[in-house]
Amino acid sequence: MNAPARQAEYPVALQRAVDAYLEQLRFSEETTTAGLEEAMRYSLLAGGKRIRPVLALATAEALGHTQDDVMALAAAIELIHTYSLIHDDLPAMDDDELRRGKPTCHVVYGEDVAILAGDGLFAEAIKLVLDEQDGDPERVLRALRHLVAAISVSGMVGGQYVDVKETAPHDQAGLRHLHELKTGRLIAAAIECPLLLFGAGEAATMGLRRFAAELGVLFQIVDDILDVTGDEAALGKPQGSDERHGKRTYVSVFGLEKARELARESHHNARAALADAGGQTATLEQITDYILTRDT
Ligand code: IPE
Ligand code: IPE
Ligand code: MG
Ligand code: MG
Ligand code: MG
Repeated sequence: MNAPARQAEYPVALQRAVDAYLEQLRFSEETTTAGLEEAMRYSLLAGGKRIRPVLALATAEALGHTQDDVMALAAAIELIHTYSLIHDDLPAMDDDELRRGKPTCHVVYGEDVAILAGDGLFAEAIKLVLDEQDGDPERVLRALRHLVAAISVSGMVGGQYVDVKETAPHDQAGLRHLHELKTGRLIAAAIECPLLLFGAGEAATMGLRRFAAELGVLFQIVDDILDVTGDEAALGKPQGSDERHGKRTYVSVFGLEKARELARESHHNARAALADAGGQTATLEQITDYILTRDT
């Protein structure tokens, strides 16, 4: 399996379906909290690739299900991701002022409101799954439990802690583990939660789960590379943020060329796992190639 040379195409139709669903979400009719809802919607609807929900839809497709079958869960993952971005950008964290091509939430609404907007998106995500996700209640709960675990102390939030406090061992395994936690587990959950929702058996989905874990790490290695090589207008977020904050990344530790090689290796492993998985995986293959070759 060779790495794609040019930028792979993104499944834009799936992205649009996610955007349309997110656009019609409303959280409260109370006038006293209208400003909070405005801040939440500002960040949620500012754009974004929607990679995580698109992965959830593509996973449903791979298992022979429709977009509608998984849309509430998929959208909830994007709400959670957006919460993580709002908090990641705060002055106490990465202190960034541009996100998704717009001033960050705290720049527009203030730090107090931005913290609450993140908290609000998190809570509304859980509520969305419980209220709107169809399916056998036990399976819905299993999927939701997995999603919450993916952002727990042994997931995204723990990874953000390791990132800001630099508690990871200074070796390749330590860096990979940081990436697994802070980004990998939520990306993987976008694939694993639909598997749980649809009751796909453990043995049958081994390949997909291996794929999910590798894809998450690949995503963050490429994010590290783009922080150095990316174009700010295309990225929609500040270039060079990691270097400014002295972050340990695949580029700061290995240098650009080696980081690119490790990304290609990770892409190869992800594609190999997907090939083992079987099923209708064309869209998942396309997204995997896109994640390696993207410039945004
Ligand atoms: C950026 O995620 C934050 C990371 C976890 C690396 P994305 O690159 O998916 O950002 P959006 O959603 O497209 O804005
Ligand atoms: C953030 O990683 C991961 C999250 C959990 C949000 P980064 O700090 O590298 O993400 P960007 O580069 O700001 O999008
Ligand atoms: Mg960060
Ligand atoms: Mg950041
Ligand atoms: Mg980054």
